[in-house]
Amino acid sequence: MSLKAEDVSYRYPGAGGPAISSASLEIGKGELVVVCGKNGSGKSTLIRCLAGLIKPSQGRVSIDGQAPEKARRAIGFAVQFPERALFERTVCDEVAFGPRNMGLPPDEVDRLTGQAIDAVGISRDLMSVAPRSLSYGRKRLVAIACAIAHRPGYLFLDEPAAGLDYEGRTRITGLIKSLKAAGMTVIVASHDPLDLLDICDRLVVLDGGRVVADGPPSVESLGRAGITSDTIELARRLQSCGINVREAFSPEALADSIVEALK
Ligand SMILES: Nc1ncnc2c1ncn2[C@@H]1O[C@H](COP(=O)(O)OP(=O)(O)O)[C@@H](O)[C@H]1O
Ligand SMILES: [Mg+2]
Repeated sequence: MSLKAEDVSYRYPGAGGPAISSASLEIGKGELVVVCGKNGSGKSTLIRCLAGLIKPSQGRVSIDGQAPEKARRAIGFAVQFPERALFERTVCDEVAFGPRNMGLPPDEVDRLTGQAIDAVGISRDLMSVAPRSLSYGRKRLVAIACAIAHRPGYLFLDEPAAGLDYEGRTRITGLIKSLKAAGMTVIVASHDPLDLLDICDRLVVLDGGRVVADGPPSVESLGRAGITSDTIELARRLQSCGINVREAFSPEALADSIVEALK
């Protein structure tokens, strides 16, 4: 069971060149895959093709062997800035919208709604408040609860941490980790994936609509996405001083590596 993209290209109507060119990918059940690249590199377009929200101009996508439009129940998608699309009177109604729309019986809708709210770590006391009145970070969690309420096997998150403060980003990273631990396949588009490098299985790098790297995150693949960090720079400087530290993305991993190298 997997998600497969074969030679997928997409051209927006009226646009000059393609936004995605000949992308081929296979994402296995339970994987956490981060799609990164500079602004305009095609991240949103690619994940929208993978989720069947737009149809490739060329090539094909299949989800567990089916066309994405036939696999709706298997897919959850949170668009970029999803909090702008919260419109129901209460958090409960907002999260219940998807399962209700699928025609599930009311007691099943209630059960799924409660479970989704618990999964994202929002207090059930907030179920009766208006989603628009919540903090920015909580709105983002509600939006993710909406995307997972019908228990999709494949969850797509487009820039889930964009615009959030440190605490909000930490919560989203923790949530992604727990969804993966619960067996969900999670595909995240992010121009700033540093928070996810320690927990993701694969980094797919796009450049000008083409997949230019696909594998475990490495300093080289990040470089192709134009990404560096203080931690990566520090590791590089230590290596150039003859201190044999490993590639590390988080300060914690680098600290461990320095201790090891100095032993
Ligand atoms: N609705 C649209 N119509 C025309 N071109 C678009 C549209 N959306 C995105 N594009 C173009 O497609 C390319 C890829 O965009 P996008 O997938 O949004 O990139 P990213 O998510 O990596 O920032 C960019 O050149 C962008 O300008
Ligand atoms: Mg985007």
